Amino acid sequence: MIDAPGLTHEPFPRGRTRPLFAAGLGTLGLVALLSLSQPQGHPPRLTSAGDCDKQDVNGDTDIGGRGCFGGAALSSSNSEGSTCSVPGLPATMQAILARGPSPLGVSRGIWNIYWTKDALLPPCPYEDEIQVQVRGSSVNPADWYEAQTRGAAQAFDHDPGLGDDVSGVVVAVGRACAAQGFRVGDEVWGVTASATGDFRSREQNAYAQFANVFCKLVGKRSPGAPVSLEDLGTIGLAGGTSIGAMLDAGAPWRPEDNVTLAVASGSGGTGTFAIQGALGLGAARVFAAASADHFATIRSLGATPVDYHTTSLWDALPPSSVDVVWDNLGAAGTAQAAARALKRNGLYLTLAVGHFASWQAAGTGIGTPTLPADGVLVVDGKPIVARSPSVRDEATDSVRIVALMNRLIDAGLMRPVVGKRYPLCDVAAALDESVNGHAAGKIAIDVPPVEGWSIDDFLDAEVRR
Ligand SMILES: NC(=O)c1ccc[n+]([C@@H]2O[C@H](COP(=O)([O-])OP(=O)(O)OC[C@H]3O[C@@H](n4cnc5c(N)ncnc54)[C@H](OP(=O)(O)O)[C@@H]3O)[C@@H](O)[C@H]2O)c1
Repeated sequence: MIDAPGLTHEPFPRGRTRPLFAAGLGTLGLVALLSLSQPQGHPPRLTSAGDCDKQDVNGDTDIGGRGCFGGAALSSSNSEGSTCSVPGLPATMQAILARGPSPLGVSRGIWNIYWTKDALLPPCPYEDEIQVQVRGSSVNPADWYEAQTRGAAQAFDHDPGLGDDVSGVVVAVGRACAAQGFRVGDEVWGVTASATGDFRSREQNAYAQFANVFCKLVGKRSPGAPVSLEDLGTIGLAGGTSIGAMLDAGAPWRPEDNVTLAVASGSGGTGTFAIQGALGLGAARVFAAASADHFATIRSLGATPVDYHTTSLWDALPPSSVDVVWDNLGAAGTAQAAARALKRNGLYLTLAVGHFASWQAAGTGIGTPTLPADGVLVVDGKPIVARSPSVRDEATDSVRIVALMNRLIDAGLMRPVVGKRYPLCDVAAALDESVNGHAAGKIAIDVPPVEGWSIDDFLDAEVRR
């Protein structure tokens, strides 16, 4: 395990219900019923980032004068009046854009999104943003919740993008970010603004070759980190949420705490990061529900799997043996069922709050969760403590949590489990994979390089000058 100086066992703030990185996403649920635009055909499945060039998509649509990011390439300015210039960039880029709400809601194979080579680059970053040449991203269930509704959710005058997880190389730096030490050429990873529920005027989306990102939501890749920059792009949202939850649950733990954690859903994004985060931050043992196909993965991460198809995790565990339940699934009645396995005054921590709960139920058919209010829940005479992850101040906590994840990664205690990869142009198939509900770890999105252009060439030229 690693210790985590500066991290304290703060009591959970009562009555707060916004999960890490998920603030404000709830507005999207309201627009699912709006009228529908023309559905896009489902493109053929592709296998590598280079295959985007072979893509004969009905989705490669002329977006005409609407523009997609409201910006200009080469030398651009934003409404703050800042200008910036990145030498040699093309005028357009590849991106996934959303047009109107999804015609059938969350329905495999039919999305309201399309791939285009003609998206305009983001404008010059605002002072609290950096511009990144995107190298990697991934699919979180939040991306298909957003794909379902994006494009009608806000008063956009253009088709908005998608993609919450991001990694890439910095190509332009806003003033405030420069003051915080960000430089052109830095390798960074984290989340985009939409992962925090911020869908306002600054479109910052990682399913694109370039994105503007708040520098408070990303951290620098450690020199020599054992995880590639591309794969760091799969961690931000699910990893940050899971590590934040472990901190809420009291981590880092001391050996004498002898903590036992049970994870409701061990195989996917939040599950694989929570297992690693818990053990890396001192938990003595972790049990996790999973399909038998994923037992090897769960074991390789150091946890003990339980096949939820044949037995309930809560019945498989000895009574009153668990200190913390991490309910990252949100099935109906979990708090009550888990109470049997929890110790007296044990902690039930759930992600299934607010709109996430209804999306989750709508998307997965798992059932509407029955959530206890934050506070003490008495089940069969035994009190357990029920909480949802705390509200975080993204400006400080994201920086702190990415820094902590870097330490876990550098120490070899955390890595993304990437079950499948899709090229940028095949995001629709990647969303389908996620909707299937049995992702093995993370579903990576590989973003192709810009042909004939690299920030490294520019940096080399600067150094030689
Ligand atoms: N609030 C936040 O900040 C935040 C952040 C991230 C995620 N979330 C939410 O948390 C939930 C999980 O996210 P995720 O990224 O981990 O999703 P994911 O990667 O898509 O995970 C899917 C996993 O669920 C497992 N599963 C399906 N049915 C199950 C069942 N009945 N019992 C146990 N496991 C089951 C599958 O395991 P098997 O294949 O082994 O069956 C699969 O690996 C989503 O609803 C998501 O929206 C919230």
